[in-house]
Amino acid sequence: MTVITNIEDLRVLAQKRVPRMFYDYADSGSWTESTYRANESDFQQIKLRQRVAINMEGRSIRSTMIGRDVAMPVALAPTGMTGMQHADGEILAARAAEAFGVPFTLSTMSICSIEDIAAHTKSPFWFQLYVMRDRDFVERLIDRAKAANCGALMLTLDLQILGQRHKDLKNGLSAPPKPTLANLINLCFKPRWCLGLLGTKRRQFGNIVGHVKGVDDMSSLGEWTANQFDPRLNWGDVEWIKKRWGGKLILKGILDAEDAKLAADSGADALIVSNHGGRQLDGAPSSIAALPAIVDAVGRQIEVWLDSGIRSGQDVLKARALGARGTLIGRAFLYGLGAMGEEGVAKCLELIANELDLTMAFCGKTNIEQVDRSILLSGTFPV
Ligand code: GLV
Repeated sequence: MTVITNIEDLRVLAQKRVPRMFYDYADSGSWTESTYRANESDFQQIKLRQRVAINMEGRSIRSTMIGRDVAMPVALAPTGMTGMQHADGEILAARAAEAFGVPFTLSTMSICSIEDIAAHTKSPFWFQLYVMRDRDFVERLIDRAKAANCGALMLTLDLQILGQRHKDLKNGLSAPPKPTLANLINLCFKPRWCLGLLGTKRRQFGNIVGHVKGVDDMSSLGEWTANQFDPRLNWGDVEWIKKRWGGKLILKGILDAEDAKLAADSGADALIVSNHGGRQLDGAPSSIAALPAIVDAVGRQIEVWLDSGIRSGQDVLKARALGARGTLIGRAFLYGLGAMGEEGVAKCLELIANELDLTMAFCGKTNIEQVDRSILLSGTFPV
């Protein structure tokens, strides 16, 4: 087998092993995918300043995110249907994150439930909340996250409505996959994945099925979710959720400095500069291009983090240099999971940490806390 040396190796392996509809679900953006592509290519435009003859011994990439010690400033992002990239995917990813010392975030739209993750991990994970029209359900979700001792609630603000993703529509995305001829043929080429799914009972949206009246099978679930994302979500809801939750709150999906000010004024603990991996408003700027203005506007008031486009430790370092205290990886860990399960997520984290550590050293820094804009060649930031 090829030696895995970077995230791209994991991606290639995941594409071989994961059924097409789930690989495509993870690895695509909305409409023309221009924002999805810019998330990665804008990182590449940023050039680093190489420094030499500086003592590089005794380096540290440890940091904190909202007061939590982290082995590196990276958390696992909440990704939908992670348990369809690999059987029991959320449990495996949470365990790999825990072993490495970085936070794991469970999505509302996960396959494994809040209670599943709590039962399989010891350190507190974070829970991501989508606001549904059924507010009783939302309150129960918040209460379940509290009961599971979650360390923070991550409220997503950029998915009241869904950006159109051509591949998902063409593939007829559903969890579990419908037994159409095209799906059955594709599954014949994914024996490991099929064996894994046959060996688990977790094959539907674990936070929803059995927790909403009338939603107990695939077809009722499809109908419920299609109608449930609440287009009315607004800053008043943020206040209500903050109060109900009562713990650390992270707001995800900010791309504009004016929204960042509202987020900071809401009293949240962190905001995430994010375009949802290029899956929502195609034509919006990349997250890394949007970051500097947001840091300038609110960086002294609230922790600013970033997701979307991170595929290496170098990207983490660049985001940190531009003022993101923390970062989140989504696709990068999903590739690892689809490729090799828990071991693949661990590999992804190792690769990123190693790239981050070495790149920081080449830039003349020995501690991540010393990293700032001075490690970047000026004039190379994307606009
Ligand atoms: C959900 O978060 C999605 O982007 O599909």
